[in-house]
Amino acid sequence: MKALILSGGKGTRLRPLTHTGAKQLVPVANKPILWYGIESIVAAGITDIGIILNPETGDEIQAKTGDGDRFGARITYIIQDSPDGLAHAVKVAQPFLGEDPFVMYLGDNLIQDRLDEFLDVFKGQQLDGVILLKQVPNPTAFGVAEVDARGRVLQLVEKPPVPPSDLALVGVYFFSPAIHEAIAQIQPSTRGELEITDAIQQLIRTDRAVEARQLQGWWLDTGKKDDLLAANRIILDTQLEADIAIAVEEGSQVLGRVRIGEGSVLRNSTVRGPAAIGRNCHLENCFIGPYSSIGDGVTLIDADIEHSVILEQAKIEGIDQRIVDSLIGERSHLKLAPNRPKALRFALGKDSQVELV
Ligand code: TTP
Repeated sequence: MKALILSGGKGTRLRPLTHTGAKQLVPVANKPILWYGIESIVAAGITDIGIILNPETGDEIQAKTGDGDRFGARITYIIQDSPDGLAHAVKVAQPFLGEDPFVMYLGDNLIQDRLDEFLDVFKGQQLDGVILLKQVPNPTAFGVAEVDARGRVLQLVEKPPVPPSDLALVGVYFFSPAIHEAIAQIQPSTRGELEITDAIQQLIRTDRAVEARQLQGWWLDTGKKDDLLAANRIILDTQLEADIAIAVEEGSQVLGRVRIGEGSVLRNSTVRGPAAIGRNCHLENCFIGPYSSIGDGVTLIDADIEHSVILEQAKIEGIDQRIVDSLIGERSHLKLAPNRPKALRFALGKDSQVELV
């Protein structure tokens, strides 16, 4: 059994964060999203992992994630030259996958459920596919499945105007090598991609056994800002273990479940958990409220932050209004002059969003 993690793609939905960086490396509770997927796969006993990369962000993902040693796995990186669809990525990975069954995992998805249980269904019943489903309130925005009473998949439709059910397709799939033949038989969709839903539909058409199981826990597709903030909140709530690697100076306070990395300094600041603060951060006259993740090397002076994700090396100074529900990119710099500003001065990249509310 192998695993294939899809970490290429375009990443248009998290712009501007992903103009230059990989969205799969955007941190949730200061750990890249992609790593949660790797850990979950390894926890299910699968250690031979292929990761699909695109030529733009591939080097960054590879440099950060390494050869798999840190996860107890062996990682093979596979370049997909253009983001031509999820099924196209499987096609590109065929030399790596060979004739092995595999779990396919979208690198920007997070699920709470362990994979073992689904893997047992897949292996035990010798199926050609197992897909995971989650009830959603807005099925028209997802790939949707119609399933019979036994869990057999009857039909899959991509973003249907009239959905056959409210069961959305989650980004984790189990396939036998029969999927390769199915992919060879499909054509690109109207958006020009080889769709995995079409390939699964092809398996069903050729009488291959494809079953669905519903997730019990949460599922987050971190492709968008609000989903990313939700993922951050849930992970901080359910997985963060308090661990303060520094001596907290007098005048500062750490309350509740908080993690603070080595080399960080807290001066006249309060941190109220759950919150994660990386290494080598400098916090001065700050209040860091619940559900905040502050990346390595961040400087915060005279700032008040809650329910936000601040990426590595960002700097925020002199903002006396509370910053909430925000996602601040790597090395961003936000500064308000000490006397009330008479003007605002910006240097914002393409697709930046600033809300002065
Ligand atoms: P998506 O989120 O469906 O697609 P995307 O990343 O191209 O685009 P956008 O954010 O603009 O909607 O992709 C799901 C995961 O699969 C994500 O980790 C990227 C990856 N992927 C590939 O590796 N190859 C591909 O051809 C596509 C389409 C996605």
